[in-house]
Amino acid sequence: MFSRNRVVRVFTLILALALTLACTQAFAGHGAPKAKKTGILLVAFGTTVEEARPALDRMGERVRAAHPDVPVRWAYTAKMIRTKLRSEGIAAPSPAEALAGMAEEGFTHVAVQSLHTIPGEEFHGLLQTAQAFEGLPKGLTRVSVGLPLIGTSADAEAVATALAAGLPAERAPGEPVVFMGHGTSHPADICYPGLQYYLWRLDPDLLVGTVEGSPSFDDVLAALKVRKAKRVWLMPLMAVAGDHARNDMAGDEEDSWASQLARQGMEPRAVLHGTADSAPVSAIWLRHLDDALERLN
Ligand code: CO
Repeated sequence: MFSRNRVVRVFTLILALALTLACTQAFAGHGAPKAKKTGILLVAFGTTVEEARPALDRMGERVRAAHPDVPVRWAYTAKMIRTKLRSEGIAAPSPAEALAGMAEEGFTHVAVQSLHTIPGEEFHGLLQTAQAFEGLPKGLTRVSVGLPLIGTSADAEAVATALAAGLPAERAPGEPVVFMGHGTSHPADICYPGLQYYLWRLDPDLLVGTVEGSPSFDDVLAALKVRKAKRVWLMPLMAVAGDHARNDMAGDEEDSWASQLARQGMEPRAVLHGTADSAPVSAIWLRHLDDALERLN
């Protein structure tokens, strides 16, 4: 004969088992680990200059060639540029919009690659956004961010080598080449003087100047005068040859770099190709993307 106590205990056990099973099944339905889906998000400052956009397309093609099985999406960090592109009917998501969209598409792991030149304001904002998107409920499991073009001293040396390999064929030895970077009040502005160091180790006539940082255009002008420069090549040190390259560097206005050099009796020759156009420079971004993909594991 079973005691009444024993019956209650057995009944409780069966109930507990049934509940556990029910809970496990419910959990298997909603909380099962999602299938891993890896994606790449390429993030550029962006450009409103139509002729400059193919440089980004080429970068996208290089990324797809290197990672044919990984879907690629784009985002742009400049709000002003996103607004302008949208007004022209061009899709231009912010990094946050793109990451949210990728989570909705079922991506679990995203390698975000910055196509900025230095780890300045745009890059640090991107880093914060990426970190905020990692591990949200029903969101992305892992988000890694690849360094911009110049992330380390070794990168600065590699960029100098890549720039020196991509000089215009018509440039004669001894003719100065000025690379125009953006420049910033952010501490990462030190990347430009850092790059200048490695350029000078290769060729004393390769100069860096910036629109808003250091070295300034006056620094460049002083260096050109010391060299008694005649013909001077101007090349953008930006992913695309956009507004700064076409106006501040090569434009006809009297305060453009080209106009100021002409007034000094020099012969400016502007090259309107962004660094994303250059295969040797792009290879450095691609290496940073490889690192970011590796860090997803
Ligand atoms: Co600017």
